[in-house]
Amino acid sequence: MSDYDVEFSRAQFAQYRSPTSARLAFLENAGAAYAPDQVTQKLDRFFTKTKVQPYYLYKASLEAGAAMDRSNALLAASINAEVDEIHLGPSTTLNVYVLAQALRSQMSAGDEIVVSYQDHEANIGAWARLAATGLEVKVWLPDPATGFLNEEDLVSLLTSRTRLVCVTHCSNVVAAINPIRRFTEICHAAGARIVVDGVSFAPHGAVDVRELNVDFYLFSLYKTFGPHLGLLYCRRDHLAELPNQGHFFHDHEPSKRLTPAGPDHGEIACASGIIDYYRDLYQHHWPGTDFDARPLVRRLAQLFTLLNAHESEITQPLLDYLAANPRVRIIGYPSQEGQPRAPTVAFDIAGLDNKSIAAAMAAADIGCGYGHFYAYRLMQQLDIDPDQGVTRLSMAHYNTAEEISRAIDVLDRLL
Ligand SMILES: Cc1ncc(COP(=O)(O)O)c(C=O)c1O
Repeated sequence: MSDYDVEFSRAQFAQYRSPTSARLAFLENAGAAYAPDQVTQKLDRFFTKTKVQPYYLYKASLEAGAAMDRSNALLAASINAEVDEIHLGPSTTLNVYVLAQALRSQMSAGDEIVVSYQDHEANIGAWARLAATGLEVKVWLPDPATGFLNEEDLVSLLTSRTRLVCVTHCSNVVAAINPIRRFTEICHAAGARIVVDGVSFAPHGAVDVRELNVDFYLFSLYKTFGPHLGLLYCRRDHLAELPNQGHFFHDHEPSKRLTPAGPDHGEIACASGIIDYYRDLYQHHWPGTDFDARPLVRRLAQLFTLLNAHESEITQPLLDYLAANPRVRIIGYPSQEGQPRAPTVAFDIAGLDNKSIAAAMAAADIGCGYGHFYAYRLMQQLDIDPDQGVTRLSMAHYNTAEEISRAIDVLDRLL
């Protein structure tokens, strides 16, 4: 393995090739990540060459359909799923909503759903609304000081009526990576199924749905360097039990049963570019290796080990800087070392307004987020006013140490 070549990664993104946009230290990746050429060129091609109804017999239509099929196949393989187990909808929020509608029909009044308040509202609200239909919705509260979820609390919430546990793989604020395989074991032992929000995990790690043994897993491709789509994995045997949420005549087409919005052709067509980008990164770092000789999910796990080392290395100085100041409350682990955490750093500074921190960052050409990030209930649990929220700097593998040091300089001027 060679050292990670961040400049090679950056060279794949138009934003870093233009001197104007390259000035922006983009540290808001947990909101939406940049898309590489491998994605944008496919989108451009779709719109300029094959923007027609796909799957008819003329050339442009066949090509459009083939591009979509390729994306479906690669995305499924990338998470170790079968192609008929993935569903590409407009967003994770809508995918959870549709899943909730479908799963409701399998439950009876008095059945229980557990939702974690470490989660983004996307994996809470649609389930919480089912309380109005006679289900009991129980809350798995994170620790009010740290925001961490405790396994014992989950165990104490489970009963013989628990049908579903909805929890995040990684919070977009706390950033701790939860032991999903372990949570799944606990849920399954109690006869419950698990719905995992992988939105904040998937940009930083390979998702192996078989290894995790999850029932349902969701993430958003616009955070994994792709177009604005949400991917829902639904285990094949579960899908067969669920009522079709799409047109009745599509009942026999698995990937259409949980996507009533219908496919966004262009965005699906370009999504394979995410995997092409990963392939190019892999081959740059492991030249001469046949990328396709091993399962895709294994190759991605190997690649992410390399990318994670870089993410951790560039994030640690920020954590160290923040941890050294008593006015700062870091949400989540204060270290990248030895802790399962994503390179997302949320914090609150006593006496400083988050919007003014983000404004100071913007003035220095740094992309920074602030607010509650739709983790509204988490904010309340952490005793943070959701209207004030926190400041968040979230890194991706294409960020550099120099960009983070610019953010530290801004904080230093403010503190
Ligand atoms: C952790 C997490 N879950 C879910 C979502 C919702 O995803 P989408 O915008 O695709 O609905 C987000 C979006 O920010 C998120 O950060």
